[in-house]
Amino acid sequence: MKIEEVKKLLEEDMNNVTSLNELNELKNKYLSKTGLITVLNSEIKNVPNEEKKEYGMKVNEVRNLFNEFYETKKAEYEEALLNEKLSKEAIDITLPSKRVKRGSKHPMTRITEQFEDLFVSMGYTVYEGPEIESDENCFQKLNLPKGHPARDAQDTFYLKDEYENFLLRSQTSTAQVRAMEDNKEKGPIRIVCPGKVYRRDEDATHSHQFMQIEGLVIDEGVSMADLKGTLETFCKRILGEKTNVRFRPSFFPFTEPSVEVDVTCFKCGGKGCPLCKQTGWIEVLGAGMVHPNVLEMSGYDSTKYQGFAFGTGMDRFAMFKYGIPDIRTIYGNDIRFIEEFDRKDDE
Ligand code: PHE
Repeated sequence: MKIEEVKKLLEEDMNNVTSLNELNELKNKYLSKTGLITVLNSEIKNVPNEEKKEYGMKVNEVRNLFNEFYETKKAEYEEALLNEKLSKEAIDITLPSKRVKRGSKHPMTRITEQFEDLFVSMGYTVYEGPEIESDENCFQKLNLPKGHPARDAQDTFYLKDEYENFLLRSQTSTAQVRAMEDNKEKGPIRIVCPGKVYRRDEDATHSHQFMQIEGLVIDEGVSMADLKGTLETFCKRILGEKTNVRFRPSFFPFTEPSVEVDVTCFKCGGKGCPLCKQTGWIEVLGAGMVHPNVLEMSGYDSTKYQGFAFGTGMDRFAMFKYGIPDIRTIYGNDIRFIEEFDRKDDE
């Protein structure tokens, strides 16, 4: 074929290309080993010498025509393909997202964390004990031998058969015994133990399962003044600096002397209302100096070491703090109740 013919054919073909595939077919047709332009090129050997230059230039012209067309079209098609792909994969960021359901902490988790944070800031460590306890740890080593009348107030759930000596702990005071026995050097102790306890109780303000936090401090020269200072700080930090704190003599078999701690009513601020039974005060804590018998039973020298202990129901704090009227809702597993605490910022 002559150069002019090839050129004319190429120009026609160029008009008919509609896709990248066709463009590549065209490349084959003109530039493969047997392609029309390749053939023109190889025929240069048959051209007389004096025409070779012009012939070569003309072939080059055709080749350039093709190449230019090829490069522009190729870029065009590739861009179109890319755009198509991009538009197919596009994400519409203006669509509203699916609502992610955020969990919320149970009020008891919140209260427990607040108590722990406070005591850790005062140098205590958190010490946890099991809910299934031996009669010894729950009562005997706390100066409540079998048959002691003070056991009545802490009637609990008992295990049977070979576990007869075991029960569900009725107080976190079991942690006092465990912490003292764990301390092999019989040295100073400063712990808080939050956790579930069990009793045979059930009404609007008592549940068969509730939560206490126990504190125990043992060291040389610990006095009632330390106990008072610590508990006053504790009550004010948790319930507000305006809270007044009052100590009343009381009785616990494992502390001597023992006190009960009252705070000004959260609701009326001390004026008197149905919540505080018009007294202006609400009882929140039991506490006292660790009884020498208790120290001795767990291997401490009571002439060298003194200690104080306290225990309080965290549920009551949660009820007061969050205005929960019935303790049973705390343990009712009703998600609607727990959701009410979503995003409540009290930390
Ligand atoms: N364990 C006591 C109770 O449950 C509270 C208490 C703890 C009292 C520590 C004195 C010292 O009632």
